[in-house]
Parts: sequence; C-alpha cells; structure tokens
Amino acid sequence: MSISSISESDSLSRCARAVEPALAKWLADASVPQSLAQAMRYVCLEGGKRLRPALVLLSAQAAAPADKWRADPMPAAVAVEMVHCYSLVHDDLPAMDNDVLRRGRPTAHVQFGQAMAILAGDALLTRAFEVLARGLSDGALAAQLAGELAAGAGPAGMIAGQVADMGLCPLPEGDQARRYIHLRKTAALLKAACRMGALCAGASGQQLSALSAYADDLGLVFQIVDDLLDATASAQVLGKTPGKDAAAGKRSYAAELGIEPARRLAGQLTQRAMGQLETFGSGADELRQLTLLLGQRDR
Ligand code: IPE
Ligand code: IPE
Ligand code: MG
Ligand code: MG
Ligand code: MG
Repeated sequence: MSISSISESDSLSRCARAVEPALAKWLADASVPQSLAQAMRYVCLEGGKRLRPALVLLSAQAAAPADKWRADPMPAAVAVEMVHCYSLVHDDLPAMDNDVLRRGRPTAHVQFGQAMAILAGDALLTRAFEVLARGLSDGALAAQLAGELAAGAGPAGMIAGQVADMGLCPLPEGDQARRYIHLRKTAALLKAACRMGALCAGASGQQLSALSAYADDLGLVFQIVDDLLDATASAQVLGKTPGKDAAAGKRSYAAELGIEPARRLAGQLTQRAMGQLETFGSGADELRQLTLLLGQRDR
C-alpha cells in the first residue's frame, strides 16, 4: 500500500491538513529577515508526511475525548514538526549525510547555501520552543511540554542517536548497537510527540507509560522501514537519494539483517506496538490505523 494511494481520508492526511495552516501561521513573522523566513518556510511547508504532528493529535485523541482535554494539542504538533524539519536540514548537511535531495526537492544547503541551512535549522529549533511558550495559556503545561520536547530532541535523545549514527561515540556490542541508534535518533522524537499529545489531553501515568512503550516500538519500525526504503526504493517515489546508507556504511537493519529478515522484524514490532495500545478504547482507533499504515509505507 502506498502513502499516496490511501491519502485524502486516512488519519495521517487528516492530521497533515489540520497542522499545515497552524505551521504556516507560526512561520509568518514580518520581523524575521526575509531570506531566513524563506528558508524556514522552504524546509517546513511542503512535502512532509507530518507523522510527528499526527502522533501528537492522535495520542491526545487516544487519551481522552476532545471536550475533556486540558489544552489544545496543536501548538505541540507545530513545535515537534519544526524540530523534525530542523533535524532533517542538519542531517542532510555535507558534514553529516551529505544529501542533495529531500522531500523531492534540493536540500536546504543546496538551495540556500550551508550557512543559511545551518541558521534556518537553528531558527526552527528555537522557534519550536517559542511556540510552546506563547501558544499555551497554561504555563505549567507549557513547561512540561518543553521538557518533553527537549528530552526527545536533545543530547540524551535524538542528538545522542545522531552522534552514534555518525560513529562519534562508542556503541553497545553487536545487535544492541542498531537498537541504541534507532531508539534515539528516531524513536525519541516520536515518543516526545506521543507524550506531548497525551499530556495536553490530561492523560494518566499509565496512559503515558503505554504510549512511551508504543513509541519505542513504532520508532524502531519507522527507522527500519526508512532503512529498507533507502536500500530498495527509487528517488522518484522516496523524494530522497536512495542507497546512501550502504555507501556511508550506516548501521542499518537492512544491511545487517538482510531485507526480508528486516521486513519480518518490522512486522513483529508493529504487532508489539499495537499491543501497547490495547489499554486504550476506541479513541485510539486512528492511532491504530496509522500504526498499521506506517509498516507499509513507500516513502
Ligand atoms: C525522515 O523522517 C527521517 C527519519 C527519522 C527517518 P520522515 O520520513 O518522517 O520525513 P518527512 O517528514 O516525511 O519528510
Ligand atoms: C535521520 O535518519 C534521523 C534524523 C534526522 C534525526 P536518516 O539519516 O536515515 O534520515 P533520512 O533517510 O536522511 O531521512
Ligand atoms: Mg542521518
Ligand atoms: Mg540522512
Ligand atoms: Mg534514512
């Protein structure tokens, strides 16, 4: 099944349609230099699947009906997508993965030069926290969400994963190395997204723990599929240059387990992720639908 063939009515596209105007609103700021604003919009506004905002919105929906929510989860959805977009810009830089294609278009440093790409990434990361600080009227909740986002994106989360992915720190032995990298570089931000959504809904401690375990499994699946697509998909469908992981000697499941075993593992982890959602009622149905969809995506 392709992401495009099930678009329009599925939960991922519904969430994408909901978050995009909010993202555009937080990127429209006349006091930002025009050249910087243009680069920020270029990397944020077109082509992303919007998985992380979808996880915010659907985790809130899973935890409680909308009329019981403590706060609107939309600022958290915008903030996590800004952090994600910044991470892609920096991930593509010549000093990192050195990619020229992203979301079907030239990467930010190809389009605007390295200095502007680095600065646009910095700007998105900082604006994300401004969105949380200014977008929520409940100050205690805003601080809690900022803590979750910083933990997921920060030096013990996504950045630890990127450091490990680049071979810049010692790794656990054997199979544990891949898991270590994927849990941090990818799952950590997905976990922050789920937890932020749940916190906006006023989730219980038990619901938060279930969503954290769910996001670990989902993050592993998501990165295994990303690695499989790198090994098997075309640039046209993927919107990124395939074959880069093998060329760079990355520790991917596709390279180390083989394509079919990696696919099977993704299937098993998808089932385990679904199991983590068992404690939720029908409010989690769209999250379940999204989970099954992600195992089968083609970009
Ligand atoms: C790509 O993320 C980077 C990974 C963590 C694998 P996505 O596949 O969610 O990228 P977009 O946002 O849809 O472009
Ligand atoms: C990216 O992993 C993870 C982050 C951006 C934090 P990859 O390097 O595999 O992502 P792609 O394939 O470039 O999207
Ligand atoms: Mg990378
Ligand atoms: Mg990359
Ligand atoms: Mg990849």
